[in-house]
Amino acid sequence: MRLSLYRLFDLLHGTWFVLLVLVLSRAAISADKAGSPPLKTKSDAPAATAGGVYEFRTKHDPNGIGKFYMGREIAHVMGFIAADWLERPEREDEEKLTTLVAALDLKPGQIVADVGAGSGVISFLIADEVGPEGKVLCVDVQQKMLDLITRKIREGKIENVDTVLGTPKSPGLKAGTVDLILMVDVYHEFEFPYEMLRELSAALKPGGRIAFVEYRLEDPEVPIKLVHKMTEVQVKREAGLPELGLRWKETIGDLPRQHLILFEKAAATP
Ligand SMILES: C[S@@+](CC[C@H](N)C(=O)[O-])C[C@H]1O[C@@H](n2cnc3c(N)ncnc32)[C@H](O)[C@@H]1O
Repeated sequence: MRLSLYRLFDLLHGTWFVLLVLVLSRAAISADKAGSPPLKTKSDAPAATAGGVYEFRTKHDPNGIGKFYMGREIAHVMGFIAADWLERPEREDEEKLTTLVAALDLKPGQIVADVGAGSGVISFLIADEVGPEGKVLCVDVQQKMLDLITRKIREGKIENVDTVLGTPKSPGLKAGTVDLILMVDVYHEFEFPYEMLRELSAALKPGGRIAFVEYRLEDPEVPIKLVHKMTEVQVKREAGLPELGLRWKETIGDLPRQHLILFEKAAATP
């Protein structure tokens, strides 16, 4: 017995045993890799310049959702309960909505998507500009906001305004169909700004425009919570990602509280 144990020990040190151990350990590593999610590479890490990469922080502004995109915090979505605030009579004085709509230079017959339409205050101003041959598509993620719009459509017998229920990642618009996308005090609330911008850009006709209307973060006098304001530089950084195919066209800065930042989708090449 003593001799056979000694012999076994001797055998275990043999070359064949070393090879066996190597083969078994390699098989175990491959099995583990097959069952695990892919390891994060450096390019998966949050980066200031990359689109579609979100960061989550536990310390953040209470008016934000703790999710950050390209360095800024995303704001909470304004609930249906605050719809009255959108309809406040002093809004025209404070924000000059009629000046804003005039600055969009709309033409009769155009198709406009008012994304994040809320209760539709601006949608119906636009409907007058595009006329009976045109159309306003009111997109929102809250059905209760769209219900308010539907009621106004019925009461006013308005035929050129429709509602579209979007999702946080998609506005639900058909590709290549829209002349202008308007977002008034909305973009900073998008939970998935990158995914939304990709779809919004795809929804534009060649040469179509996308308008960001955001409270000016550069101006401390604008009485709005910080995460509900954006700088022009930040909007340009996010909308200017090359894969979105949008080119900055102009910024109109003469509204009392907001800037109107317009981008254009490249026209189709002949
Ligand atoms: C502050 S309100 C502005 C409403 C309207 N644009 C106005 O100025 O009267 C923002 C609206 O954006 C909507 N919203 C937020 N995220 C959205 C998304 N991903 N897609 C569509 N609408 C969204 C909200 O439900 C809310 O009705």
